[in-house]
Amino acid sequence: MKQLKIAIIFVFGLLTIISFIPTFFETNAQKLDEYQWNLPKGFPTPIVPKDNPMTNAKVELGRHLFYDTRLSINEKTSCATCHLQEKAFTDGKKNAVGTTGENG
Ligand code: HEC
Repeated sequence: MKQLKIAIIFVFGLLTIISFIPTFFETNAQKLDEYQWNLPKGFPTPIVPKDNPMTNAKVELGRHLFYDTRLSINEKTSCATCHLQEKAFTDGKKNAVGTTGENG
């Protein structure tokens, strides 16, 4: 009888450990994709909703969209046309020029 109790406790213990295995791998997968902000000193960390965390994949998608001309009305302009990285993401002009050439 005592051996049966020990066997039952052992089996339940084993099942409990096995049930935690997927959780362990999921959290590790999430941690691997957790975005590391590499911000200049004094720059505040952007506020990100807890249920929609920043990931490397999202940053990579954003990087591609930033240079994608298909987003513009005439498919000739991307964000990077006006927001030049070498000019701190400005166009460096006194007055802005619109996508279709208007000045203002
Ligand atoms: C045709 C030129 C042009 C394009 C294309 C353009 N922008 Fe801009 N953007 C501007 C100008 C000019 C301003 C500044 C407007 C102002 O201050 O009145 C601005 C302002 C901004 C700001 C606000 C910056 C701040 O300091 O508040 C953000 C963010 C921004 N743009 C993101 C984008 C993104 C993302 C895209 C692409 C989807 C994009 N822009 C495409 C010209 C452009």
